[in-house]
Amino acid sequence: MDHALDRPPIVRRVSELIGATPLFELCRTPDDARLLLKLEQFNPTGTAKIRMARQMVLDAEERGLLRPGGRIVESTSGNTGLGLAVVAAERGYTFTAVVDHHAAADKLRAMKALGAELVYVAEEGDEELATAAREEYAEKLAAETDNAYFTEQHNNPANGVGYRPVAHELHAALDGRVDILIGAVGTGGGLFGTGGELRRTVPGVRIVGVEPKGSIAFGPPAHDYHQSGTGTPEGATIGAMVDYDLLDEGVKVGDVEAFATCRAVARRTGLLIGGSAGGVVYEALARLSSLPPGTTMVALVNDGGEKYLDTVFDDDWMAARRLLDPDVEGEVDALLTKLRHTQRKYA
Ligand SMILES: Cc1ncc(COP(=O)(O)O)c(C=O)c1O
Repeated sequence: MDHALDRPPIVRRVSELIGATPLFELCRTPDDARLLLKLEQFNPTGTAKIRMARQMVLDAEERGLLRPGGRIVESTSGNTGLGLAVVAAERGYTFTAVVDHHAAADKLRAMKALGAELVYVAEEGDEELATAAREEYAEKLAAETDNAYFTEQHNNPANGVGYRPVAHELHAALDGRVDILIGAVGTGGGLFGTGGELRRTVPGVRIVGVEPKGSIAFGPPAHDYHQSGTGTPEGATIGAMVDYDLLDEGVKVGDVEAFATCRAVARRTGLLIGGSAGGVVYEALARLSSLPPGTTMVALVNDGGEKYLDTVFDDDWMAARRLLDPDVEGEVDALLTKLRHTQRKYA
């Protein structure tokens, strides 16, 4: 499943459009340290997660765990569910997504449009992230249903395997010149699946993980956060793909900084990135100016901002949660302006 780079001019399945996503140079220092964004929102469903959704289904078929006409069950904050809904439609399965109201409403609506059955573990109006309850329910539902398979993304090696093509794409596009790979960590599949494969051909690549402040994979304290789809909330199990041996650094970024970055990037460049990517880009931008000349840093952008127009990009939603901070937004904007205006090519 690594053929995206030689995609035929006409495809017959949506899943054939997965991969070969673009690289966007966000900025560059005067001595040519550059920050490139791997825009995974250019995959079908607008997120990286369809890469692993397809891999988990193919793997289950190969191992005889999913038989024709079967049911796929997953606990999802939306993006994995979107990918599974597409793959289920293509391959003749039904798909049950176990969800909560913390998930972006547009992701839930899109899953439904793609034919998924949604099961909520929380009451309407309860915005709390309910990862642990979702997983428990999904496991039980799959066990009680005939010919059903719980893909269990947090604990499924096929999740990480699904991202190996990202490493091949980066290697091909940059001729192996990747010095730092930085990305959000939820299940760990995206960063460590990509990073592990990249290390095979670029042994010196530095791998930096970003999780929301309040998430527990890189240590306490635990508290609520609003970056959707990423991190490990208290009570949830740290993903089996989170590979601390592969990780050079794990950092935490708060919602205010992450969302201010999404908003500043949108206004300054015209690119909409999602909240978790905002955290990654915030951290990447903060480091760029102190990197050695000629360094290439690649930031994985898990999804686009279109799914967050009624949250991250909505002033009322932001203000009601005390997340709106014009000072931080101004600082990110100033940094972007400085690092883009040193180069005439961005004008
Ligand atoms: C928006 C978003 N960001 C980040 C992540 C984290 O990615 P991963 O689970 O591969 O660590 C996810 C996936 O869960 C996501 O949907």
